[in-house]
Amino acid sequence: MDKLVISGPTRLKGEVTISGAKNAAVAILPATLLIEGVCRIENLPNISDVKMYCKILETLGAKITWLSEHEIEIDSSNISCTQASIDLTSKFRASYYLLGSLLGRCGQAEVGLPGGCNLGARPIDQHIKAFEALGAKVEVAQGKITAKVKRLIGTSIYMDIVSVGATINAILAAVLADGTTTIDNAAKEPHIVDVANFLNTMGADIRGAGTDVIKINGVKKLHGNTSYSVVPDQIEAGTFMLAAVASKGDITIKNCIPEHLDCITAKIVEIGGTVEDYGDSIRVYMNKRPTKATVKTLPYPGYPTDLQPQMGVVLSMANGTSMIHESIWESRFQYTAELNKMGAKITAQGKSAVFEGVSELTGAPIYATDLRAGAALIIAGIVAHGDTQLYNIDHIDRGYENIEEKFRKLGANIQRVVE
Ligand code: EPZ
Repeated sequence: MDKLVISGPTRLKGEVTISGAKNAAVAILPATLLIEGVCRIENLPNISDVKMYCKILETLGAKITWLSEHEIEIDSSNISCTQASIDLTSKFRASYYLLGSLLGRCGQAEVGLPGGCNLGARPIDQHIKAFEALGAKVEVAQGKITAKVKRLIGTSIYMDIVSVGATINAILAAVLADGTTTIDNAAKEPHIVDVANFLNTMGADIRGAGTDVIKINGVKKLHGNTSYSVVPDQIEAGTFMLAAVASKGDITIKNCIPEHLDCITAKIVEIGGTVEDYGDSIRVYMNKRPTKATVKTLPYPGYPTDLQPQMGVVLSMANGTSMIHESIWESRFQYTAELNKMGAKITAQGKSAVFEGVSELTGAPIYATDLRAGAALIIAGIVAHGDTQLYNIDHIDRGYENIEEKFRKLGANIQRVVE
């Protein structure tokens, strides 16, 4: 198992280029199953979740050609199988998108119950509700979900909860359905807009993505022969913004969309940092200790849960006592126990945590408890005095491309050790 060895403290300085968005890529890849033809996807992040998805698509009959490290051609003309490997699909969360795609394309799907980061209970009742509303019969048994339908019929779907995954899955299933589907109380994250843009480029008729009412007029077929570039990763960009603040550094973040980062910018300014917007890049710098703050995670455009642990590292060293309320996931404060090993003073209980700011962290052996926690703990290692060994970094490789290389270019003393 690899580990990262980090020696700090370092003030991060320089430029970093953001990769394509993981959470858009892992929805666009299964969406290609809806296309009877060939399409090209550019700006794919080079991460293990993308590689895993490509492997699964191949087992279903799609032909994949890698054109470069970040660009692939997928030919989904012949989909020969609708049963995805339980072993592969149960390893990560985004495998649930195969349900919407295979249902839409073939009228049937079998997928392992999704795995992924351990953030507490991760129900999929809203996905099932959407498929059933469109006419499918859905069964959950023996660790897998099976869905079947003769013909998907457009309908009105009201989401009881704002869910990224259920919104995208409902879109995937509705694209080729007969008639019009309306999704009310839809999620509005940038990757939802990106998936809709991708499908529209391939011939779908989806309107309103990015608002809470999405309308999908079913079309007979999606054509291929088109290329699409994945949106820049909002969460990766936010991770480097917060790394600049935590390390009292100065980072220019290139290839990002500043308006996707508005609420992070607002929080950084509130705690004393500076953010300059250059259209497709932003500069973040900080030269003093952050002030205390209160943060509550919310669906987009609120403060994202996927940047909560990174903000936790910043607030663990703020001047005064801060509070974070996690309103999306049940169990996203596991990283606080690791930060406490580094000298932080955090008390987490249920969905809230109190951060009594300390003036410095010290290096320690620590464990990445999930993907975003892992990124946050790298930042902690960079700002801490002394050496940190970070274990369980396969979590981080699932969603961040070349993360140690990107931090090294900003001045961090960070090495991957293969054990
Ligand atoms: C997506 O997960 C992301 N994953 C997560 O990113 C992210 O944390 C989350 O959205 C919230 O922004 C992908 O895009 C692959 P949800 P998703 O459905 O779609 C409840 C990362 O680190 N809910 O929006 O699974 C659920 O329990 C990952 O990149 C139901 O109750 O999240 C949660 O409390 C981690 N029933 C809330 O809704 C359902 O059927 C939001 O979940 C679905 C969800």
